[in-house]
Amino acid sequence: MELKTKHHLTNTQSPITNLHIDDMEIRHLPSILQIEQSSFKTPWPTHVFLEDIRNENSITLVALTGIRNVEEGIRPPKADALRTPNSGNHVVGYAVAWLVFDELHIGNAAVEERFRRQGVGEKLLQELLERGEKRGVQLATLEVRISNDPAIRLYQKFGFKEIAIQKEYYKLESEDALVMLLQIG
Ligand SMILES: CC(C)(COP(=O)(O)OP(=O)(O)OC[C@H]1O[C@@H](n2cnc3c(N)ncnc32)[C@H](O)[C@@H]1OP(=O)(O)O)[C@@H](O)C(=O)NCCC(=O)NCCS
Repeated sequence: MELKTKHHLTNTQSPITNLHIDDMEIRHLPSILQIEQSSFKTPWPTHVFLEDIRNENSITLVALTGIRNVEEGIRPPKADALRTPNSGNHVVGYAVAWLVFDELHIGNAAVEERFRRQGVGEKLLQELLERGEKRGVQLATLEVRISNDPAIRLYQKFGFKEIAIQKEYYKLESEDALVMLLQIG
């Protein structure tokens, strides 16, 4: 189902069509790295994403707009796709989480700035939690900068609760992290 935004877009935002979530692949990395570098003060380097893509205990997702994948039966035949210059998928966000015993630890999530506030982060988080649940996790945890109001609100929307503060977790700026937890099982 196509996601329709309920928010009024500003003139720096781009509307999303055909939002869908898929597994992260190496070919997505150039777009992911661009989003990563413009979203974080200490961005992850390429090799971290590569290791997670290859790690069986990592869940690595991308949010794509554009043509859906073949399984969903919406992608046009190859000949049509070739005639349509903008028919490829565009990476608008991604998320990474690690399965550690009965815990899903959310390690990274970001959405390209011009596509924010249209439900992409929510859809990525929903998929992470569903996949974690299928793999038997009982709880989800994460650390988030104490100043990161958009992210904290996103996690609260899913029922995450603040359980601790990690003093100066983000060393570069001496910023504290909020530790949040969601009981799943
Ligand atoms: C945090 C982030 C991933 C959210 O992605 P998003 O696609 O914009 O979020 P959504 O549109 O799915 O928003 C879902 C909910 O999150 C909360 N939220 C998201 N952005 C918000 C903002 N700017 N202000 C207040 N609440 C916000 C709201 O509760 C929202 O629900 P609502 O739209 O019904 O009010 C995005 O802001 C981002 O990439 N930030 C930079 C990277 C980052 O900080 N990542 C998190 C690291 S822990």
